[in-house]
Amino acid sequence: MGRPRLHAGRGVGPTPRLLQELDAGRLQLANRIVVAPMDLARSTPDGLVTQALCKRLAHLAQQGRVGLVECGHHFVGDEGRATARQPSIAHDGCMEGLRREADCLHEEGVAAFVQVSHAGSAADPLLTGSRPLSAGGLPCPGAKRNHCLPQAASPEDLARVTGDFAAAARRARQAGFDGVEIHAAHGYLLNQFLSPLTNQRQDIYGGSLENRLRLTLEVVGAVRSELGADMSLSLRLGACDYLDGGNTLEDVCRMADLLVPWEPDIDLLSVSGGMCYYSRRDSVEPGWFADSATLIRSRLHVPVLLAGGVRRSSEGEALLGSGACDLVGIGRSIANNPRWAELELSGN
Ligand SMILES: Cc1cc2nc3c(=O)[nH]c(=O)nc-3n(C[C@H](O)[C@H](O)[C@H](O)COP(=O)(O)O)c2cc1C
Repeated sequence: MGRPRLHAGRGVGPTPRLLQELDAGRLQLANRIVVAPMDLARSTPDGLVTQALCKRLAHLAQQGRVGLVECGHHFVGDEGRATARQPSIAHDGCMEGLRREADCLHEEGVAAFVQVSHAGSAADPLLTGSRPLSAGGLPCPGAKRNHCLPQAASPEDLARVTGDFAAAARRARQAGFDGVEIHAAHGYLLNQFLSPLTNQRQDIYGGSLENRLRLTLEVVGAVRSELGADMSLSLRLGACDYLDGGNTLEDVCRMADLLVPWEPDIDLLSVSGGMCYYSRRDSVEPGWFADSATLIRSRLHVPVLLAGGVRRSSEGEALLGSGACDLVGIGRSIANNPRWAELELSGN
């Protein structure tokens, strides 16, 4: 189907950065506007995709005016489920719904990624029926009341979890998604290994930053091997914790250096918060994690996505112009207004 033509503001002038195509190897996008992943809480109690979820996703696609919609987190294994209406990508029985999810976005003319996650200690034991896994026995600093004290994952647990991420990637490919995003941010399992606030392990998954990043990179390798040559892999990284005792901006630079050898496997780095989750108490400027994103973008050649508090297209333009990112993620502004892109980009 034809993609709707976007108006580049009044009069003739340079194309706004938000409307420029992204041509980066496997990642080809019509423009720089990305709908950030959001759990839309519309799956069945078994985690199956519903018509209501597809309808909502189609709204988010803004009549084809965004470059990419990232579908919110899907749990890769039943033990890693975070919320009651969260969709599953954990079983082959989910395939029909997953196909409909990818199709409904393609019908709107936009690229579709699916985010895959394991909540670790943020899994809800009332839903999973088991004691949650984490790097160790420590809760996240922002743990909710329904979270219970986790148990340290054994090497066998980690092999199973990595296999679950790989199987989820296979299902995403079979369902027709254009890419998979690995959720390693916002206090979920991979982030619980990355942050010194929750990881005090003594084995090869704990201690140094290299060790704390190990599980994430093992998952990246396992997912990449299932995606084949054409599909994109995005890593949503909770790089800095912005909390005392957590990962710092200095650690962010070292993380970026550790990611350099993985650049051929990763097509997009979505920079977000770690143990502070997806907002920051100390910053209300649009693009809350711009400091982390700028550091990462200066060290890697992979395109960088930045989300957080962007309400106006002018704010997105400024972030792209400042060199903080290559793509701008927008969550609530688009969720609250299915005509956001039309109104913001029409120049009216
Ligand atoms: C209701 C809701 C659900 C969210 N679900 C997810 C999710 O599934 N995965 C994720 O990485 N981030 C999730 N986020 C965070 C968003 O992707 C985004 O980073 C955050 O909303 C900040 O962007 P915004 O200010 O444009 O909304 C969620 C945010 C909201 C408000």
